[in-house]
Amino acid sequence: MSSTTSDMVVDALLAQYERNPRFLLQVLLDVQDRFRYVPTSAMRSIAEYFDIPESRVFAVATFYKALSLTPKGEKIIKVCQGTACHLRGGKQILKTISENLGISAGETTEDGIFTLETVNCLGCCAMAPVMTIGDKVYGKLNVNDVENILEAERKDALFLKAK
Ligand code: FES
Repeated sequence: MSSTTSDMVVDALLAQYERNPRFLLQVLLDVQDRFRYVPTSAMRSIAEYFDIPESRVFAVATFYKALSLTPKGEKIIKVCQGTACHLRGGKQILKTISENLGISAGETTEDGIFTLETVNCLGCCAMAPVMTIGDKVYGKLNVNDVENILEAERKDALFLKAK
């Protein structure tokens, strides 16, 4: 049977763990980190490795928000819609980003650069309205900032890709 590069990557990730299903979530998180989603073929390999039904792997993979069955963008944008951010225009920020990128919350741009998500609090309400892109925090936003921020983040993603 032939193996793809991604099969080999999953096998290498699995090899770091005992064949004990208590490591199931950790392995899924590793796969998510590596591929930015959990491919079906990876779920099959994981089920085989731990000798558990594929349905159990699928159930865990669909339960946790940190795991996705479809590829996520290189940069995850989290726009806060919690109370403090909502009161300071968070909804308008989300709408502006959505219009700029042509996607709704939960979707990924066609070029695979951005995934747009909403969250209920990013833990820095004093900076409302807030969003994060990857590990960067952007606070006290106004709609005029959004276009420049997205442009700079897109350039950064393309630069990293070209390296
Ligand atoms: S409500 Fe937006 S950071 Fe807390």
